[in-house]
Formats: sequence, C-alpha cells, structure tokens
Amino acid sequence: MREYKIVVLGSGGVGKSALTVQFVQGIFVEKYDPTIEDSYRKQVEVDGQQCMLEILDTAGTDTDDVPMILVGNKCDLEDERVVGKDQGLNLAKSFSCAFLESSAKAKINVNEIFYDLVRQINRK
Ligand code: GTP
Ligand code: MG
Repeated sequence: MREYKIVVLGSGGVGKSALTVQFVQGIFVEKYDPTIEDSYRKQVEVDGQQCMLEILDTAGTDTDDVPMILVGNKCDLEDERVVGKDQGLNLAKSFSCAFLESSAKAKINVNEIFYDLVRQINRK
C-alpha cells in the first residue's frame, strides 16, 4: 500500500488540529489546546486505491517566516549538473533564504546546512 506523508502547516489557532482530528477520528475538538507536534495514521480509500496517510500536525507557525535553507545536493557530480547555480540562487532569493550546494558523499557543506538552520532558529 502506498504511504502518503502529509504535513499540516499554518498560523496558530486556525484549526489545523481540529481539521486533522475531524478527518482521522470524526470528532470536532471544541477546546483550544495549542499543539506541540502530533502525528496520526489513517488508512483510506481514494478513487478505489487503498492508501495509508501519515499526517503530521505541527505547532502554529507564521509560515512566511519559517527557518529554511535551500540545498542543492550531489555537488560532487559536477559533470552531471542539471540545475545551474544561478537557478538555485534565484529560487533561494524568491524564498528569501540562503542557498548552499552540498555533497553527502564528499562531505561538502553538510554541517553548514544544519548549523545555519540552528542559527536561524536561535535568531527567532
Ligand atoms: P495550533 O495548534 O496552536 O497551531 O492551533 P490549530 O491550528 O491546531 O487550531 P485548533 O485546531 O486547535 O483550533 C483552534 C480553535 O478553533 C479551537 O477552539 C477549535 O475548536 C476552533 N475551530 C477549529 N476549526 C474550526 C471550525 O471549522 N469552525 C469553528 N467554529 N471553530 C473551529
Ligand atoms: Mg494544533
């Protein structure tokens, strides 16, 4: 059976959990209890196909300002490059985030990606 990973994002109090719980358990949660993080699993049939949904209900976030970094991985395979550095930089600019090219294989910018995210979170 195919598994679908779904993440529910949005500002605090808009009803992410209520929608998720209504979908998974068929109940409306009247009380507002801010979420830290909850995950749910539900098997459903969509268009005749059985599927397993894994739904991650997140804490309310201002989604315009989520710590984020755009990563172009496999930079050790330069001769097989399909995405230009400029394309990456431009996309990162449109997201207002940093851009790094990395290689898990050649250990390039691996720590930098995660350290940069920690620094962004610390600034919040
Ligand atoms: P965080 O976990 O803090 O990000 O909030 P959330 O987006 O998960 O909101 P939550 O589902 O907890 O809903 C917040 C409040 O709005 C609760 O009191 C819900 O009962 C109420 N609520 C959610 N959905 C609806 C809706 O469709 N209609 C009405 N009237 N109230 C709703
Ligand atoms: Mg919630």
